[in-house]
Amino acid sequence: MSVGEDIPRVDGFDKLHGRTLYVDDLKIEGVLHGGTIRSPVARGRITAIHFDPAIRWDEFVVVDHRDIPGPNEVALIENDQPALAAREVRHRYEPVLLIAHRSVRALRQALRAVRVEVEPLPAVTDPCQSLTPVLIQYGADNVFKRIDIAKGDPEGAFARASRVTAGVYATGSQEHVYLETQGMVAYQQDGRLVVRGSLQCPYFVLDALTHFFGRPREAFQVIQAPTGGAFGGKEDFPSQLAIHAALLAEKAGAPVKIIFDRQEDMAATTKRHASRVRHRTAVAEDGRLSAMEIDVLLDAGAYVTLSPVVLSRACLHATGPYFCENIRVHGEARLTNSPPAGAFRGFGAPQTQFAIERHMNVIADQLGIDPAELRRRNLLRDGQTMATGQVFRDGTDLVGLLDRALDLSAYTARQEQFKADNRRHPYLRKGVGLSMSFHGAGFTGSGETRLASEVCVAGLPDGRVEVLTAQTDLGQGTETILAQIAADRLGVGIDRVRVAVPDTTRVPNSGPTVASRTAMVVGRLVEQACDDLAAQARRVAGTDGGSVQDAIRARYAANPRQRLLGRVKYAPPPAIQWDEQSYRGDAYPCYSWAAHVAEVEVDLRTYEVRVSDYVALQEVGKVVNPTLARGQIQGGIAQGIGWALLENVVTEDGAMINNQMTNYIIPASADLPPIRVFFEEQPSRYGPHGAKGMGELPMDGTAPTVINAVCHALKTAINKIPLTPERLMEHLEGEADG
Ligand code: MOS
Repeated sequence: MSVGEDIPRVDGFDKLHGRTLYVDDLKIEGVLHGGTIRSPVARGRITAIHFDPAIRWDEFVVVDHRDIPGPNEVALIENDQPALAAREVRHRYEPVLLIAHRSVRALRQALRAVRVEVEPLPAVTDPCQSLTPVLIQYGADNVFKRIDIAKGDPEGAFARASRVTAGVYATGSQEHVYLETQGMVAYQQDGRLVVRGSLQCPYFVLDALTHFFGRPREAFQVIQAPTGGAFGGKEDFPSQLAIHAALLAEKAGAPVKIIFDRQEDMAATTKRHASRVRHRTAVAEDGRLSAMEIDVLLDAGAYVTLSPVVLSRACLHATGPYFCENIRVHGEARLTNSPPAGAFRGFGAPQTQFAIERHMNVIADQLGIDPAELRRRNLLRDGQTMATGQVFRDGTDLVGLLDRALDLSAYTARQEQFKADNRRHPYLRKGVGLSMSFHGAGFTGSGETRLASEVCVAGLPDGRVEVLTAQTDLGQGTETILAQIAADRLGVGIDRVRVAVPDTTRVPNSGPTVASRTAMVVGRLVEQACDDLAAQARRVAGTDGGSVQDAIRARYAANPRQRLLGRVKYAPPPAIQWDEQSYRGDAYPCYSWAAHVAEVEVDLRTYEVRVSDYVALQEVGKVVNPTLARGQIQGGIAQGIGWALLENVVTEDGAMINNQMTNYIIPASADLPPIRVFFEEQPSRYGPHGAKGMGELPMDGTAPTVINAVCHALKTAINKIPLTPERLMEHLEGEADG
């Protein structure tokens, strides 16, 4: 058995030895270096483009919107985003012009020698801003997408309620800060346009290229280069970058590479949607939630991109893992003249779970009961319905999960001790906070059915097998866990399995590497494709008794020319029902669950918050590789702590201006507590060995856990992140004044 074992990551050795070649390391004969000229303002009409005559422009390849052969659209949910602005710009740093040159130095000089002249138009930079007609750039009111979820009779329940608690919670944007910046290379080879780069979803890039150039799929080859982190930031953006590199390469008749430096990457690429969530909750005397009314607002930026689905996931996680008879959730994703917000680990769910998990503490304070007790009374129990009417039947004991996390963290004892410590200490205030969170695995609703993912497993002549999927390893360990799953299914050692590099001419479309779907959805398909392969091998080779490897070898001995290929296509589990119109039914096939407890120390001299201990307990079904899983959880918590306390995206004209790692502060190891990770394994029937999704889950609960601990330490209510020292100082001074 290798599932459940700490198999060393198969890509680890090469990375450790610096042998892995990322896109910028690729040596390509005659390559040109491409760069992007961008809009200087949030919104306006392009009136002129000035080229400094001191530059030898005839040495450069220059591409603008007039070079675009087909629709000027980056294909995604709605094709509203141009690849290069034509007459109008809708956000600062919107790409207007591309240039390429053999020398990086010449390119850098030239990038500074082009000036885009724009006649500014009024811009929306705050999604709450009231709109005069002139500011409306989308539909009747700049709302890209609305979502409504309704259950029971909230109006009636509010009318009967003796106690109603309201609150507004806000979260900031967040930059991915993947180690490797965005990068792409495009070149012609064997009659195809090859695009190779740092990316999550090769088939998204392929679809964008075929739409943009109006050519068949066979005209392109998209290959993932080893990718140094992504976190959602390389879900949709690489499509635009691939188009840019391809446009330059076609015009130049030479390979073109575009590699962003950190500043350009931070300024111009997608970020987490900033949010504002309003809660109104009717609470019975015994602490049970009797009605919830939740309004979700996301700042989507200037184009639709992925915002409708981010909003969907935000709304579907907005009630937290609690039971309530009467629910109304309304969500809106609104246009602002900022660079489009995009996918970021958690995909809307962290925003709304920050709100509900802070709100639960506000309710507990008002009732005068412990936040753990309030949660205990309201957590979903087996057989109860969630907001969409989905019946909670995971078999997971959420109260048990909460209680175990309280035990592991000595929650009650620490509360007592901190009460005493805080009385004595002149300036340190300690607190303990908790949260419960959950995350739906896989695409929402009928999404997986629409994707119709395909997976192949090929037998190789020497008896080994190759797993063929479009799933990308982004550092999270895809390659290793898919190999483990295949090895177990075929009853062979992991050294007998190799996992193909995602290349659209070699691997089937098994869907994007997003939405915590790889282990559960694709992992299960890998098992099924292995079964298909084994059955074929045995049938053709007629060796019923021997090993699969023997059968594969025998099969090749009989017919060396024909490749042995196991193949499977996703079929929706029969019990799953979803109605996209009414938002009723099974939003996700299954969920992962978490109970987190954090301890913090607040220094009243500097207003710094130090997280001093962190217990993360999660139920993710079968843990395929404990070390990789622990790493995922710890990384997600680090990212969550950054989002809660440090990571402040400062904007001007809607765009990030602290776009350097010197002034956009992310946590370093020294800023992190010991992160104590624990698992429970309640197997799901949908994943291989019962595995569920886990990559995004740690992002959901961390920020509210930390802020709840700060609020406990200071006996206050902070409802907005990031809680930088400056913000905390203002908050406490405001309290003192008030
Ligand atoms: Mo992810 S945020 O589902 O790319």
